[in-house]
Amino acid sequence: MGIPVTLIPGDGIGPSIAEATVRVLAASGAPIEWDVQLAGLAALMQYHDPLPEATLDSIRRTRVALKGPLETPIGDGYRSVNVALRTTFDLYANVRPAHVVVRGGRFDKVDIVLVRENTEGLYVGFEHFIKIGDDPRAAAESLALITRAGSERVIRYAFEYARLHDRRKVTLVHKANILKFSQGLFLEVGRQVAAEYEPLGIVFEDKIVDAMAMNLVLRPEQYDVIVTTNLFGDILSDEISGLVGGLGLAPGANIGRHAAIFEAVHGTAPDLAGKGVANPGALIFGACMMLDHLGDGARAGRIRAALEATIREGTRVTRDLGGTASTDEFTDAVISELRASGPHLRASGAAIGR
Ligand code: NAI
Repeated sequence: MGIPVTLIPGDGIGPSIAEATVRVLAASGAPIEWDVQLAGLAALMQYHDPLPEATLDSIRRTRVALKGPLETPIGDGYRSVNVALRTTFDLYANVRPAHVVVRGGRFDKVDIVLVRENTEGLYVGFEHFIKIGDDPRAAAESLALITRAGSERVIRYAFEYARLHDRRKVTLVHKANILKFSQGLFLEVGRQVAAEYEPLGIVFEDKIVDAMAMNLVLRPEQYDVIVTTNLFGDILSDEISGLVGGLGLAPGANIGRHAAIFEAVHGTAPDLAGKGVANPGALIFGACMMLDHLGDGARAGRIRAALEATIREGTRVTRDLGGTASTDEFTDAVISELRASGPHLRASGAAIGR
């Protein structure tokens, strides 16, 4: 029996990069049993619902999903399908790793994992206008909600991630010098959790967000795992992707207690849909994060190494990486690197949150 995983191919280039990713995982010998489900535009066309109950039921059952990019249909009543998934499964930690694949750029040694709180902060959506005189929109107020429990679970996830992936430092990013209550609480909880991990040799530091934004472009090599609140994480994760060459190869994970969803950070690339030239790399890296999460880090490492070797070699890559290969040719190249790297591995080990 394989490990059941929900596969949402997605819209635009989604189905083609999902197919490529499934082929690479099969070639690695990963014992995955895919349960293919629809969401986004594809689900709307087939079931008149961008997030069908069957898709939610599948994730409830498998607790792990790999998701291609989704187009949120424009129109009344449709909220973002990605936000709906995050809310439905309380996916509180957004994890975005970024490291240099091709050396020779501005930075050669960046290897950062940013853990962003995904459910609280300014993104809770508690907003309203305030009427003054005749102007119903004379002012607007947004509320940032930070809870002790919400802070603790995401900070603890960041430390557990550091422990399980042999990383040595966690940097908590905040603005507690100005927002003494909300950001102050996040920092206070961070210090408490950090004390538990100090005996394990994981170093803790905190940085004010503005200084952090500057340090990241000056000396990004000094950072390892970063944990921060929702808005700061949204901004810094894109800044960090930019340090290593943009969003093209960036994977992401959304982690909850009862489910985890792995994805590529990029969108549906409507300009490339149906042309067979999309780069499947980000979704393959997303699938590697999924294998890590399932406790199969050795296989994830082999797939990453094959993908990175193909990218570094540079002749069988897609156009966005400077080559001329199709999605299929690039995928074939990754698979031949993988086969050259040795025999299949058995699934092994324990997983976070399963
Ligand atoms: P996008 O990421 O789809 O495209 C931006 C640029 O990057 C385009 O030039 C595209 O060709 C290129 N690109 C993206 N992925 C690529 C790949 N794998 N290989 C080669 N080139 C690639 O962003 P855009 O155009 O802002 O959004 C398009 C649609 O995607 C929208 O409907 C948006 O809502 C959706 N979207 C979905 C996301 C998700 O489901 N996680 C995330 C971001 C956007």
